[in-house]
Amino acid sequence: MNSAPNDNLRGYFANVIDSVGDGVIVLDKGHRITLMNPAAEEITGVSRRQAEGTLFFDLFGGEEVLLEMVVKTAETGMTISDHENVVLKRGVHITPVNVTTSPLLQADGEPIGIVLVLRDITKIRDLEDAVRQADRLSTLGALAAGLAHEIKNPLGGIRGAAQLLERELPEGSELREYTSIMLKEAGRVNKIVEDLLNLTAPRKLELSKVNLHRVLGDIITLQKRAAEKKNISFQQNFDLSIPPILADESLLTQLFLNLIKNGVEAVVDEGQIRITTRVMSDYSMTQRGERPSRIVAIDVSDDGAGIPKEQQENLFTPFFTTKSRGTGLGLAICHKIVSEHRGMIKVDSEPGKGSTFTVMIPLIR
Ligand SMILES: Nc1ncnc2c1ncn2[C@@H]1O[C@H](COP(=O)(O)OP(=O)(O)OP(=O)(O)O)[C@@H](O)[C@H]1O
Ligand SMILES: [Mg+2]
Repeated sequence: MNSAPNDNLRGYFANVIDSVGDGVIVLDKGHRITLMNPAAEEITGVSRRQAEGTLFFDLFGGEEVLLEMVVKTAETGMTISDHENVVLKRGVHITPVNVTTSPLLQADGEPIGIVLVLRDITKIRDLEDAVRQADRLSTLGALAAGLAHEIKNPLGGIRGAAQLLERELPEGSELREYTSIMLKEAGRVNKIVEDLLNLTAPRKLELSKVNLHRVLGDIITLQKRAAEKKNISFQQNFDLSIPPILADESLLTQLFLNLIKNGVEAVVDEGQIRITTRVMSDYSMTQRGERPSRIVAIDVSDDGAGIPKEQQENLFTPFFTTKSRGTGLGLAICHKIVSEHRGMIKVDSEPGKGSTFTVMIPLIR
Protein backbone atom coordinates (compact mmCIF):
# COMPACT_ATOMS: atom_id res chain seq x y z
CA MET A 1 0.00 0.00 0.00
CA ASN A 2 2.74 2.44 0.99
CA SER A 3 4.41 3.50 -2.24
CA ALA A 4 7.33 5.46 -0.70
CA PRO A 5 10.74 3.77 -1.12
CA ASN A 6 12.40 2.32 1.99
CA ASP A 7 14.52 4.63 4.10
CA ASN A 8 17.92 3.88 2.59
CA LEU A 9 16.75 4.21 -0.91
CA ARG A 10 14.78 7.27 0.02
CA GLY A 11 17.95 8.92 1.33
CA TYR A 12 19.74 8.06 -1.90
CA PHE A 13 16.99 9.54 -4.02
CA ALA A 14 16.84 12.62 -1.84
CA ASN A 15 20.58 13.13 -2.44
CA VAL A 16 20.15 12.80 -6.17
CA ILE A 17 17.29 15.26 -6.18
CA ASP A 18 19.14 17.71 -3.93
CA SER A 19 21.99 17.85 -6.42
CA VAL A 20 19.78 19.01 -9.27
CA GLY A 21 19.93 22.75 -10.01
CA ASP A 22 16.24 22.95 -10.93
CA GLY A 23 13.52 22.89 -8.30
CA VAL A 24 12.03 19.42 -7.87
CA ILE A 25 8.87 18.61 -5.93
CA VAL A 26 7.54 15.05 -5.72
CA LEU A 27 3.91 14.32 -4.85
CA ASP A 28 2.37 10.98 -3.95
CA LYS A 29 -0.86 9.73 -5.40
CA GLY A 30 -2.91 11.71 -2.91
CA HIS A 31 -1.02 14.91 -3.91
CA ARG A 32 0.88 15.04 -0.65
CA ILE A 33 4.44 16.40 -0.96
CA THR A 34 6.96 13.62 -0.29
CA LEU A 35 10.19 15.25 -1.47
CA MET A 36 11.42 18.74 -2.21
CA ASN A 37 14.96 19.89 -3.03
CA PRO A 38 16.82 23.05 -1.95
CA ALA A 39 16.39 24.69 -5.37
CA ALA A 40 12.61 24.25 -5.01
CA GLU A 41 12.80 25.81 -1.54
CA GLU A 42 14.64 28.76 -3.04
CA ILE A 43 12.19 29.25 -5.90
CA THR A 44 8.96 28.81 -3.94
CA GLY A 45 10.08 30.32 -0.65
CA VAL A 46 8.58 27.32 1.14
CA SER A 47 10.84 25.28 3.39
CA ARG A 48 11.16 21.56 2.97
CA ARG A 49 10.14 20.94 6.56
CA GLN A 50 7.01 22.93 6.07
CA ALA A 51 6.23 21.21 2.77
CA GLU A 52 6.90 17.52 3.25
CA GLY A 53 3.78 15.67 4.26
CA THR A 54 1.53 18.62 3.39
CA LEU A 55 -1.08 18.55 0.65
CA PHE A 56 0.18 20.35 -2.44
CA PHE A 57 -3.16 22.15 -2.80
CA ASP A 58 -2.96 23.49 0.74
CA LEU A 59 0.44 25.00 0.17
CA PHE A 60 0.10 26.26 -3.39
CA GLY A 61 -3.63 27.01 -3.45
CA GLY A 62 -3.02 30.49 -4.87
CA GLU A 63 -1.00 29.27 -7.85
CA GLU A 64 -3.81 28.40 -10.23
CA VAL A 65 -1.78 27.47 -13.28
CA LEU A 66 0.35 25.14 -11.20
CA LEU A 67 -2.68 23.41 -9.68
CA GLU A 68 -4.27 22.99 -13.10
CA MET A 69 -1.13 21.33 -14.42
CA VAL A 70 -0.97 18.89 -11.50
CA VAL A 71 -4.62 17.94 -11.90
CA LYS A 72 -4.24 17.49 -15.65
CA THR A 73 -1.19 15.29 -15.31
CA ALA A 74 -2.93 13.21 -12.63
CA GLU A 75 -6.00 12.77 -14.81
CA THR A 76 -4.35 12.11 -18.15
CA GLY A 77 -0.98 10.67 -17.19
CA MET A 78 0.65 13.15 -19.56
CA THR A 79 3.70 15.35 -19.12
CA ILE A 80 2.85 19.02 -19.35
CA SER A 81 5.23 21.97 -19.76
CA ASP A 82 4.55 25.65 -19.41
CA HIS A 83 7.24 28.16 -20.32
CA GLU A 84 5.19 31.29 -20.40
CA ASN A 85 2.46 31.60 -17.90
CA VAL A 86 3.69 30.63 -14.48
CA VAL A 87 4.83 33.25 -12.03
CA LEU A 88 5.23 32.33 -8.41
CA LYS A 89 4.23 34.98 -5.93
CA ARG A 90 5.89 35.12 -2.57
CA GLY A 91 5.09 38.33 -0.81
CA VAL A 92 6.14 41.12 -3.12
CA HIS A 93 8.50 38.89 -5.07
CA ILE A 94 7.41 37.51 -8.39
CA THR A 95 9.47 34.77 -9.98
CA PRO A 96 8.79 33.67 -13.55
CA VAL A 97 9.24 29.92 -13.76
CA ASN A 98 9.24 27.25 -16.37
CA VAL A 99 7.24 24.29 -15.01
CA THR A 100 7.00 20.68 -16.07
CA THR A 101 4.68 18.19 -14.42
CA SER A 102 5.23 14.51 -15.17
CA PRO A 103 3.62 11.34 -13.84
CA LEU A 104 5.81 9.32 -11.49
CA LEU A 105 5.52 5.72 -12.61
CA GLN A 106 6.36 2.45 -10.91
CA ALA A 107 8.37 -0.16 -12.83
CA ASP A 108 5.15 -1.78 -14.01
CA GLY A 109 3.87 1.53 -15.35
CA GLU A 110 1.44 2.11 -12.49
CA PRO A 111 1.27 5.85 -11.62
CA ILE A 112 2.28 6.51 -8.01
CA GLY A 113 2.57 10.29 -8.02
CA ILE A 114 3.67 13.40 -9.82
CA VAL A 115 7.03 15.10 -10.27
CA LEU A 116 7.16 18.86 -10.69
CA VAL A 117 10.27 20.48 -12.08
CA LEU A 118 10.57 24.25 -11.63
CA ARG A 119 13.17 26.36 -13.35
CA ASP A 120 13.67 29.96 -12.31
CA ILE A 121 13.82 31.90 -15.59
CA THR A 122 14.29 35.35 -14.09
CA LYS A 123 17.86 35.35 -15.33
CA ILE A 124 16.82 34.36 -18.83
CA ARG A 125 14.27 37.15 -18.92
CA ASP A 126 16.90 39.58 -17.59
CA LEU A 127 19.35 38.36 -20.18
CA GLU A 128 16.85 38.94 -22.98
CA ASP A 129 16.35 42.48 -21.72
CA ALA A 130 20.10 43.00 -21.50
CA VAL A 131 20.62 41.87 -25.09
CA ARG A 132 17.92 44.22 -26.31
CA GLN A 133 19.53 47.08 -24.41
CA ALA A 134 23.00 46.32 -25.72
CA ASP A 135 21.65 46.42 -29.29
CA ARG A 136 20.14 49.80 -28.76
CA LEU A 137 23.30 51.09 -27.13
CA SER A 138 25.58 50.05 -29.91
CA THR A 139 23.58 51.68 -32.72
CA LEU A 140 23.10 54.91 -30.84
CA GLY A 141 26.60 54.74 -29.46
CA ALA A 142 28.25 54.71 -32.86
CA LEU A 143 26.25 57.73 -33.95
CA ALA A 144 26.95 59.60 -30.75
CA ALA A 145 30.68 58.93 -30.89
CA GLY A 146 30.87 60.37 -34.40
CA LEU A 147 29.01 63.45 -33.29
CA ALA A 148 31.16 63.90 -30.19
CA HIS A 149 34.32 63.90 -32.29
CA GLU A 150 32.92 66.51 -34.63
CA ILE A 151 31.91 68.76 -31.75
CA LYS A 152 35.18 68.60 -29.89
CA ASN A 153 37.28 70.74 -32.20
CA PRO A 154 34.94 73.69 -32.77
CA LEU A 155 34.14 73.60 -29.07
CA GLY A 156 37.82 73.95 -28.25
CA GLY A 157 37.87 77.01 -30.52
CA ILE A 158 34.91 78.61 -28.75
CA ARG A 159 36.39 78.04 -25.30
CA GLY A 160 39.75 79.42 -26.34
CA ALA A 161 38.17 82.51 -27.85
CA ALA A 162 36.00 83.10 -24.76
CA GLN A 163 39.06 82.86 -22.55
CA LEU A 164 40.92 85.39 -24.66
CA LEU A 165 37.95 87.72 -24.64
CA GLU A 166 37.71 87.47 -20.85
CA ARG A 167 41.35 88.43 -20.55
CA GLU A 168 40.85 91.45 -22.80
CA LEU A 169 37.98 92.79 -20.73
CA PRO A 170 38.96 95.19 -17.98
CA GLU A 171 38.66 94.03 -14.37
CA GLY A 172 35.10 94.70 -13.11
CA SER A 173 33.59 94.98 -16.59
CA GLU A 174 29.95 93.97 -16.70
CA LEU A 175 30.63 92.09 -19.89
CA ARG A 176 32.64 89.57 -17.87
CA GLU A 177 29.37 88.09 -16.72
CA TYR A 178 28.74 87.01 -20.31
CA THR A 179 32.14 85.51 -20.87
CA SER A 180 31.80 83.60 -17.65
CA ILE A 181 28.48 82.13 -18.82
CA MET A 182 30.08 81.25 -22.15
CA LEU A 183 32.91 79.43 -20.41
CA LYS A 184 30.64 77.64 -17.98
CA GLU A 185 28.25 76.42 -20.64
CA ALA A 186 31.07 75.46 -23.00
CA GLY A 187 32.50 73.48 -20.08
CA ARG A 188 29.21 71.71 -19.72
CA VAL A 189 29.13 70.76 -23.39
CA ASN A 190 32.70 69.58 -23.07
CA LYS A 191 31.74 67.31 -20.15
CA ILE A 192 28.89 65.83 -22.19
CA VAL A 193 31.20 65.19 -25.12
CA GLU A 194 33.78 63.54 -22.90
CA ASP A 195 31.12 61.39 -21.25
CA LEU A 196 29.92 60.35 -24.67
CA LEU A 197 33.36 59.46 -25.90
CA ASN A 198 33.89 57.55 -22.69
CA LEU A 199 30.70 55.70 -23.31
CA THR A 200 31.58 54.53 -26.76
CA ALA A 201 35.36 54.20 -26.88
CA PRO A 202 36.71 50.73 -26.12
CA ARG A 203 39.07 50.79 -23.17
CA LYS A 204 41.13 48.53 -20.99
CA LEU A 205 40.07 48.02 -17.40
CA GLU A 206 42.62 48.76 -14.71
CA LEU A 207 41.91 45.80 -12.50
CA SER A 208 42.88 45.60 -8.88
CA LYS A 209 41.44 44.14 -5.70
CA VAL A 210 38.77 46.56 -4.72
CA ASN A 211 37.16 46.87 -1.34
CA LEU A 212 33.59 47.43 -2.40
CA HIS A 213 32.43 48.71 0.96
CA ARG A 214 35.15 51.34 1.09
CA VAL A 215 34.19 52.59 -2.37
CA LEU A 216 30.53 52.78 -1.34
CA GLY A 217 31.39 54.40 1.98
CA ASP A 218 33.48 57.10 0.26
CA ILE A 219 30.68 57.93 -2.15
CA ILE A 220 28.16 58.18 0.68
CA THR A 221 30.45 60.57 2.54
CA LEU A 222 30.76 62.63 -0.62
CA GLN A 223 27.03 62.76 -1.23
CA LYS A 224 26.01 63.41 2.35
CA ARG A 225 26.09 67.17 2.10
CA ALA A 226 23.87 67.32 -0.99
CA ALA A 227 21.61 64.77 0.69
CA GLU A 228 21.28 66.60 3.98
CA LYS A 229 19.84 69.63 2.21
CA LYS A 230 16.95 67.44 1.12
CA ASN A 231 16.67 65.60 4.45
CA ILE A 232 17.86 62.36 2.95
CA SER A 233 19.42 59.77 5.20
CA PHE A 234 21.58 56.88 4.10
CA GLN A 235 21.22 53.35 5.32
CA GLN A 236 23.92 50.77 4.72
CA ASN A 237 23.27 47.04 4.83
CA PHE A 238 26.65 45.57 4.05
CA ASP A 239 27.53 41.89 4.04
CA LEU A 240 31.00 42.32 5.47
CA SER A 241 32.00 38.78 4.52
CA ILE A 242 32.27 39.87 0.87
CA PRO A 243 35.97 39.72 -0.04
CA PRO A 244 37.76 42.35 -2.16
CA ILE A 245 36.67 41.93 -5.77
CA LEU A 246 38.73 42.18 -8.91
CA ALA A 247 37.49 45.34 -10.62
CA ASP A 248 38.37 48.79 -11.92
CA GLU A 249 38.07 50.99 -8.87
CA SER A 250 37.58 54.33 -10.60
CA LEU A 251 34.90 52.87 -12.86
CA LEU A 252 33.10 51.28 -9.92
CA THR A 253 33.19 54.64 -8.17
CA GLN A 254 31.65 56.29 -11.24
CA LEU A 255 29.02 53.58 -11.42
CA PHE A 256 27.78 53.85 -7.85
CA LEU A 257 28.15 57.61 -7.79
CA ASN A 258 25.77 57.85 -10.74
CA LEU A 259 23.25 55.50 -9.11
CA ILE A 260 23.36 57.22 -5.74
CA LYS A 261 23.12 60.66 -7.33
CA ASN A 262 20.05 59.55 -9.24
CA GLY A 263 18.58 58.28 -5.98
CA VAL A 264 19.22 61.61 -4.27
CA GLU A 265 17.72 63.46 -7.24
CA ALA A 266 14.64 61.22 -7.19
CA VAL A 267 13.74 62.11 -3.62
CA VAL A 268 11.62 65.23 -3.50
CA ASP A 269 12.00 66.30 0.08
CA GLU A 270 12.90 63.87 2.81
CA GLY A 271 13.62 60.27 2.12
CA GLN A 272 16.06 57.46 2.43
CA ILE A 273 18.68 55.86 0.22
CA ARG A 274 19.42 52.28 1.16
CA ILE A 275 22.50 50.50 -0.07
CA THR A 276 22.67 46.75 0.36
CA THR A 277 25.42 44.32 -0.56
CA ARG A 278 24.85 40.58 -0.70
CA VAL A 279 26.18 37.41 -2.27
CA MET A 280 24.02 35.37 -4.61
CA SER A 281 24.58 31.87 -5.92
CA ASP A 282 24.14 31.51 -9.63
CA TYR A 283 22.04 28.38 -10.00
CA SER A 284 22.12 28.51 -13.78
CA MET A 285 25.81 27.61 -13.63
CA THR A 286 25.28 24.47 -11.56
CA GLN A 287 23.71 22.71 -14.51
CA ARG A 288 27.07 22.45 -16.22
CA GLY A 289 28.33 20.40 -13.35
CA GLU A 290 30.38 23.23 -11.91
CA ARG A 291 30.11 24.66 -8.47
CA PRO A 292 27.69 27.53 -8.42
CA SER A 293 29.59 30.70 -9.28
CA ARG A 294 29.12 33.49 -6.82
CA ILE A 295 27.81 36.90 -7.69
CA VAL A 296 27.93 40.08 -5.65
CA ALA A 297 24.70 42.04 -5.80
CA ILE A 298 24.55 45.69 -4.80
CA ASP A 299 21.12 47.29 -4.43
CA VAL A 300 20.75 51.05 -4.46
CA SER A 301 17.20 51.82 -3.32
CA ASP A 302 15.44 55.10 -2.85
CA ASP A 303 11.94 55.94 -1.73
CA GLY A 304 11.66 58.72 -4.28
CA ALA A 305 9.33 59.36 -7.19
CA GLY A 306 9.71 55.98 -8.88
CA ILE A 307 9.73 55.36 -12.63
CA PRO A 308 6.67 54.73 -14.80
CA LYS A 309 6.68 51.30 -16.48
CA GLU A 310 6.79 52.74 -19.99
CA GLN A 311 9.99 54.64 -19.18
CA GLN A 312 11.83 51.74 -17.61
CA GLU A 313 12.87 50.32 -20.96
CA ASN A 314 14.56 53.55 -22.01
CA LEU A 315 16.52 54.35 -18.88
CA PHE A 316 19.84 53.00 -20.12
CA THR A 317 19.58 54.62 -23.55
CA PRO A 318 22.00 57.55 -23.98
CA PHE A 319 20.31 60.94 -23.66
CA PHE A 320 17.13 59.60 -22.10
CA THR A 321 16.39 62.08 -19.34
CA THR A 322 13.40 63.60 -17.60
CA LYS A 323 15.48 66.25 -15.81
CA SER A 324 15.79 69.81 -17.06
CA ARG A 325 19.53 69.87 -16.39
CA GLY A 326 20.22 66.19 -16.97
CA THR A 327 22.15 64.80 -19.92
CA GLY A 328 20.75 61.30 -19.71
CA LEU A 329 24.17 59.72 -19.90
CA GLY A 330 24.49 58.59 -16.27
CA LEU A 331 22.74 55.25 -16.62
CA ALA A 332 24.14 54.57 -20.08
CA ILE A 333 27.60 54.90 -18.53
CA CYS A 334 26.54 52.64 -15.64
CA HIS A 335 25.37 50.05 -18.13
CA LYS A 336 28.68 50.10 -19.94
CA ILE A 337 30.72 49.81 -16.75
CA VAL A 338 28.67 46.88 -15.51
CA SER A 339 28.98 45.09 -18.87
CA GLU A 340 32.73 45.62 -18.83
CA HIS A 341 32.76 43.79 -15.51
CA ARG A 342 30.66 41.02 -17.04
CA GLY A 343 27.77 41.87 -14.84
CA MET A 344 24.22 42.96 -15.17
CA ILE A 345 22.19 45.92 -14.03
CA LYS A 346 18.45 45.98 -13.57
CA VAL A 347 15.79 48.22 -12.22
CA ASP A 348 12.77 47.55 -10.09
CA SER A 349 10.51 50.50 -9.57
CA GLU A 350 7.01 51.49 -8.67
CA PRO A 351 5.81 55.05 -9.23
CA GLY A 352 5.14 56.73 -5.93
CA LYS A 353 7.06 54.15 -3.93
CA GLY A 354 10.64 54.36 -5.15
CA SER A 355 13.23 52.52 -7.19
CA THR A 356 15.89 49.90 -6.72
CA PHE A 357 18.81 49.57 -9.09
CA THR A 358 20.60 46.24 -8.69
CA VAL A 359 24.12 45.70 -9.95
CA MET A 360 25.30 42.10 -10.18
CA ILE A 361 28.98 41.40 -10.67
CA PRO A 362 30.63 37.97 -10.71
CA LEU A 363 32.82 37.53 -7.68
CA ILE A 364 36.34 36.99 -8.97
CA ARG A 365 39.07 37.34 -6.44
N1 LIG B 1 16.49 56.46 -8.81
C1 LIG B 1 15.69 56.95 -9.76
N2 LIG B 1 14.40 57.31 -9.48
C2 LIG B 1 13.59 57.81 -10.45
N3 LIG B 1 13.98 58.02 -11.73
C3 LIG B 1 15.23 57.68 -12.07
C4 LIG B 1 16.16 57.15 -11.13
N4 LIG B 1 17.31 56.91 -11.76
C5 LIG B 1 17.12 57.29 -13.04
N5 LIG B 1 15.89 57.78 -13.24
C6 LIG B 1 15.29 58.25 -14.50
O1 LIG B 1 16.15 57.86 -15.55
C7 LIG B 1 16.57 58.99 -16.30
C8 LIG B 1 17.96 58.74 -16.82
O2 LIG B 1 18.91 58.70 -15.78
P1 LIG B 1 20.41 59.04 -16.09
O3 LIG B 1 21.20 58.96 -14.85
O4 LIG B 1 20.86 58.25 -17.25
O5 LIG B 1 20.35 60.55 -16.60
P2 LIG B 1 20.03 61.86 -15.75
O6 LIG B 1 20.15 61.57 -14.29
O7 LIG B 1 18.75 62.42 -16.24
O8 LIG B 1 21.21 62.81 -16.22
P3 LIG B 1 22.77 62.67 -15.85
O9 LIG B 1 22.93 61.46 -15.00
O10 LIG B 1 23.45 62.52 -17.15
O11 LIG B 1 23.08 63.93 -15.13
C9 LIG B 1 16.43 60.15 -15.33
O12 LIG B 1 16.25 61.39 -16.01
C10 LIG B 1 15.19 59.76 -14.54
O13 LIG B 1 14.02 60.06 -15.25
MG1 LIG C 1 21.86 60.59 -13.53
